[in-house]
Amino acid sequence: IAGASSNSAGRGLWSSRWVFFLAATGSAVGLGNIWKFPYITGQNGGGAFVLVYLACILAIGIPLLMTEVMIGRRGRANPEGAIAALAREARASRHWRWLGTLVVLTGFLILSFYTVIAGWAVAYTPTAMSGGFSGLNGESSGALFGAMLANPWKLAGYGTLVLLLTLAIVAFGVRGGLERSLRFLMPGLFVLLLVLVGYAATTGHFMQAVHFLFDADFSKLSGQGVLVALGHAFFTLSLASGAMMAYGSYLPAGTSIARTALMVALADTGVALLAGLAIFPLVFANGLEPGAGPGLIFVTLPIAFGQMPLGQMIGGLFFIMLAIAALTSAISLSEPTIAWLTEKFGISRLKAVLASGITLWLLSLGTVLSFNAWSEVTLLGKTFFDSLDFLTTNLLMPLGGLATVLFAGWALSRKLVQESIGIDQPQLFALWWQALRVVTPLGILVVFLHSLGLF
Ligand code: PFF
Ligand code: NA
Repeated sequence: IAGASSNSAGRGLWSSRWVFFLAATGSAVGLGNIWKFPYITGQNGGGAFVLVYLACILAIGIPLLMTEVMIGRRGRANPEGAIAALAREARASRHWRWLGTLVVLTGFLILSFYTVIAGWAVAYTPTAMSGGFSGLNGESSGALFGAMLANPWKLAGYGTLVLLLTLAIVAFGVRGGLERSLRFLMPGLFVLLLVLVGYAATTGHFMQAVHFLFDADFSKLSGQGVLVALGHAFFTLSLASGAMMAYGSYLPAGTSIARTALMVALADTGVALLAGLAIFPLVFANGLEPGAGPGLIFVTLPIAFGQMPLGQMIGGLFFIMLAIAALTSAISLSEPTIAWLTEKFGISRLKAVLASGITLWLLSLGTVLSFNAWSEVTLLGKTFFDSLDFLTTNLLMPLGGLATVLFAGWALSRKLVQESIGIDQPQLFALWWQALRVVTPLGILVVFLHSLGLF
């Protein structure tokens, strides 16, 4: 693993808690915050959706994040191996290992479309730097984005580039490479977003955006929207897809999981809200549709870059940073599969990378074609990409998350969990334990049943 040193067991360990924090934040902060959060917020009516999303982060996401890191660290193996080891230790059913397989598969499927979307950011970088955004308005910006989507070769090319970069880093990862790139990336991204929010404030539509994002009108939120909010809480925190378990498995013993998890969730939520505050003023100022869908940031931001001073440089930097943020998330998405393949089947890291790389590449073509040649090929009204996104984020992630909290809260003993989680104050642990056993599973169930229209 990049940024790790080897221990006696041959598995690497992060060199410090700080590096783990960087890696986990690098995993969490990505396309989910900047590309997905604004567009699904727009599609689901704004404020009420944001409120439910924040509640899901707090009541479900954070306890689950701690649980996953704990499982990884205690099990010291890939997700399936770690869960199997803990189940054995707790004399629980052997079948829990299937949960590990499920989350590995979820991460793998997400990665297959994640690299394609990251390719959009890469494709926009040279356009931004060469002044290709100057003079854009809502219509022409939409046309520019549409022209990119219509070109499967371009989408496949950039998507393949991102996939190759991800796999190369995962296969040959230089020690500390992840750490070095994250050191400037996270603060840089934050500053750029602040600049964009500042610019958005000059459009005259800032308050409209604030109202859109924070006035909760529940009549605009459907049952399906509630499920999307829950799914996104998982997606944005990299949960139920093996990433946090895999990264936890490289975490040195004795560091506070709780504090680190809180910091990761805070950084992730901060970036998402900043992205919302940067995008929606532009949406309203340019007469665009909040519910326009996956192209939202790729249509709105170029208009702003085309108008603001230093827009070529700021725009170029922004898309590079977005691509790097996506890359660090993609690396974390691949790690569970690679660790699973190497540890379960005893093959080399390079072989694991090649085998998964070929499969990922083929799957990614399905996403590429969803936006052009196959855009009319739908199942229940969803394209290949929509189906994959829905299956992973709204079905597999909530199910995997539910099973994970049930495993930790009910199949493992309180003593084992208390030992491994490292929350020292007994009252605080008791609170977290109840959240894990009761609040989190009930919360997930309620959202599921609600989305099915049961109440
Ligand atoms: N959390 C990432 C984002 O918000 O872009 C996406 C992601 C990374 C999801 C890793 C799942 C995962 F395992
Ligand atoms: Na995120």
